[in-house]
Amino acid sequence: MKNKYIDLIDQSFEYPQDEFKTIDNELYFHDIPLMEIIKQYGTPLKITYLPKISSQIQRAKRLFNVAIAKVDYKGTYNYCYCTKSSHFSFVLEEVLKNDVNLETSSAFDINLIQELYNQELITKDIFIICNGFKRPQYIENIAMMLSDGFHNMIPVIDNKNEINLLDEAIQNPAEPVKLGIRIASEEEPKFDFYTSRLGIRYNDIVSFYEDKIKDNSKFTFKMLHFFINTGIKDSAYYWNELAKCVNVYCDLKKICPELDSLNIGGGFPIKNSLVSNYEYDYMSEEILAQIKNICTNRGVDEPNIFTEFGSFTVGESGATLYSIIDQKQQNDRELWYMIDSSFITTLPDSWGINQRWIMLPINNWDKEYQRVFLGGLTCDSQDYYNNEAHANAIFLPKLQKDEPLYIGFFHTGAYQESIGGYGGIQHCLIPAPKHIIIGLDENGDYYTKLFAKEQSHKSMLKILGY
Ligand SMILES: Cc1ncc(COP(=O)(O)O)c(C=O)c1O
Repeated sequence: MKNKYIDLIDQSFEYPQDEFKTIDNELYFHDIPLMEIIKQYGTPLKITYLPKISSQIQRAKRLFNVAIAKVDYKGTYNYCYCTKSSHFSFVLEEVLKNDVNLETSSAFDINLIQELYNQELITKDIFIICNGFKRPQYIENIAMMLSDGFHNMIPVIDNKNEINLLDEAIQNPAEPVKLGIRIASEEEPKFDFYTSRLGIRYNDIVSFYEDKIKDNSKFTFKMLHFFINTGIKDSAYYWNELAKCVNVYCDLKKICPELDSLNIGGGFPIKNSLVSNYEYDYMSEEILAQIKNICTNRGVDEPNIFTEFGSFTVGESGATLYSIIDQKQQNDRELWYMIDSSFITTLPDSWGINQRWIMLPINNWDKEYQRVFLGGLTCDSQDYYNNEAHANAIFLPKLQKDEPLYIGFFHTGAYQESIGGYGGIQHCLIPAPKHIIIGLDENGDYYTKLFAKEQSHKSMLKILGY
């Protein structure tokens, strides 16, 4: 009878997949035997598999450069890493092996960039795209970097008053400061509001440029920025917003010949299910084809393209492993498996925006499966996980008396630490898990390195003032 967990997977998906395989009923992630890792480090455990970060950056570059060749696009492709998706030093070190540019979001990000420069990981020629609402400290930090010679730092105006603040803060620049403007996109129809609060509304952009930038010799307007919060999707909504933005680009280009770049932000998705089938090559090609088409019709040169992929870059490098510490049958239909941590604190997007990831058992694939609900250890009734991106239920092997069950959430490498307040106070004082880094040595063999121990009671009580 086909009632084992492995049968369920074989019947439901094409398996094994690039990053997942099973040997002797145990799961391997990028050829790493996860049971070995658990034996060495225990659970709960966060993992960062560094090689995936570089391979995703190279993939993005390949996708856009192939698309450029296919549609005979005249502009260049410029990859930027958006630091907010993971600020950790080991992530930036890996990212910067790939000849990339960077994107920042707030004042402290500039201190981070400075630190990267101090460590000789970047030069002053790198493009640094400064997004976000700019408070005085952010403006001051940007002005300091510009006067220090970071001549490709591009503040992107998010809010009209920022131009006045920059004008005051920047004195006698060696060369005109490159500027960007962010377009406030229209949100998807299901949103609670129509227009994004981020950026300047479409109808105001041309007059803003003419009134505030055109005649100011300190600045040169180089980049129009456009970001669709719900991501790059093959939907009428996305293509419509892109077309509107490219038309504004063309309007601007006619009065501002030095404008030469279009930044399409982040939003490439990651694989959040074993049935993911996003067509990255089709989407990259179609984006460039649409931009080229509009520009050709309007008699305007195609812009250089910038992207700021966050999730796409780091998401698939991460995994979060837990033990099932007990089960609770709360009524005839609802069987809870309790994890040894909390979803709210370790994977906060599961709770905040109902984000789903790939969830798989790490051992016991030869055991019978059953439908379960996964519960976290906090007292919050919302601390649970009970469906997948492709199915309204989750299934795991039945618990065995003599062998604990371990499970993994995969592709959890983006945003979870910053949203969860890494190193801070955690709900119900559930500690932040241990975090390890996995890399490959020159022979292609994997090695592990402990980045952080499990959070201690001392560190938490200290923050609380004890
Ligand atoms: C301006 C900007 N660029 C890039 C990103 C990264 O988006 P993603 O992680 O979906 O690629 C964000 C995310 O909020 C953003 O606001």
